[in-house]
Amino acid sequence: MNNLKNLRGTVDLLPDQLIKWQNVEKIIFEQLSRASIKEIRTPILEMTELFIRGIGEGTDVVSKEMYTFLDRGERSCTLRPEGTASVVRALIQNGISSNPFQKLWYMGPMFRYERPQAGRQRQFHQLGVEFIGYESVRSDVEIISIAWDILRKLGINELNLEINTLGDPNDRLNFKKTFVDWLEINKNSLDLDSQNRINKNPLRVLDSKNAQTKKVLENAPRLFDFMSEKSLERFSTLKQQLEMLEIPYIENFNLVRGLDYYTHTAFEITSGSLGSQATVCGGGRYDNLIKQMGGPETPAIGFAIGLERLILLAGNEHAITKKTDIFIINKGLHAEVLAIKLSRKLRNYNLLIELDLTGGSFSKQFKKANKIKPRSIIVVGDDEAVRNEFVIRLFDNDTSENKEEIISFDDDIKIKKWLRSNFF
Ligand code: HAM
Repeated sequence: MNNLKNLRGTVDLLPDQLIKWQNVEKIIFEQLSRASIKEIRTPILEMTELFIRGIGEGTDVVSKEMYTFLDRGERSCTLRPEGTASVVRALIQNGISSNPFQKLWYMGPMFRYERPQAGRQRQFHQLGVEFIGYESVRSDVEIISIAWDILRKLGINELNLEINTLGDPNDRLNFKKTFVDWLEINKNSLDLDSQNRINKNPLRVLDSKNAQTKKVLENAPRLFDFMSEKSLERFSTLKQQLEMLEIPYIENFNLVRGLDYYTHTAFEITSGSLGSQATVCGGGRYDNLIKQMGGPETPAIGFAIGLERLILLAGNEHAITKKTDIFIINKGLHAEVLAIKLSRKLRNYNLLIELDLTGGSFSKQFKKANKIKPRSIIVVGDDEAVRNEFVIRLFDNDTSENKEEIISFDDDIKIKKWLRSNFF
């Protein structure tokens, strides 16, 4: 057993850390349900082809980062690297035509074989939101504002929203010709990966992480300069509406996103305090994906927030544990049975009850209770238990003394009275 360890790039989340995760998730769930967005759950394991067709063969995610293997039936399977392709597949498969407008969210683990570092893991978690069927610029603004408000609601203030437009397929086709010519001329200054992409998927070169290539690209023709009037107008309306909502943004014409399905609006939210992995949220419009995957022509837009990065940004006020309301000390044959019955009864009042199960001496259990500092302590010993009774110990702040009260297990009126005066 000694040498068994978790895989590189995966992380154990221990109970103390999970308090923050759970508190953050609770705030997120509230925000989502207030915006009438419904949850969808899709399998973590999918056919490899889904991601090749959905995300694009030339992307880093598909060509280098997927966890792909043959199952026992020789089918190529992949652990999902993201959620959008799966959501689209699930909608098409379950009859999107009968419900062409949908607002959906999902949360769960994703897998990418990347080099692990702070804020970057091989198994990480995303919250994704997808608006299906909506074409208007208002849906872009609503999607961006939902992401923005989730982050703000968590108290995260130093955020930058970067936006760009990737236009429609025609705009990109016009750009592609000029861009490929330029890439051919500058081929020798590009990294090998980018050189290989010139003929396969030239737009992906814009997404290169190679520092030298990035420098060379500074002088490349810009996709933005090839936009049609219509695409430009759409982008300009988006900016106006963001201004109306007082959501500050920065235009970033280099923002192309790492997945092939985007059209028109692309956006990312970054935070300087995250270091090199600064993007906490990424998203955009994908108007052609549903058709391309075999469904009816359906516009859509969405985003995903990386939860590990979100947790790094969220303040420690979210890491506060709910205090134990009642700690039940118990020892003895009859006492231990009554204590279990009592813990079940008291939990019905929505209180946080901790039942000591160590079977240790009374003094050891009291020591533990002192450490936990519950709001009150109940002691069940055999003497009381044979009479179906238990002792409540309360610390009196005025006299600095412990007060004791004996209550019968069946005396619900007295139990409620005591709960009302101490907990509600
Ligand atoms: P993405 O930009 O690939 O977009 O990922 C979204 C977010 O997931 C990133 O901004 C980052 O916070 C987090 N993330 C990605 N990779 C890692 C990693 N290796 N470790 C930790 N966090 C990571 C998508 O996945 C799209 N499906 C978003 C979308 C939804 N677009 C439209 N709808």
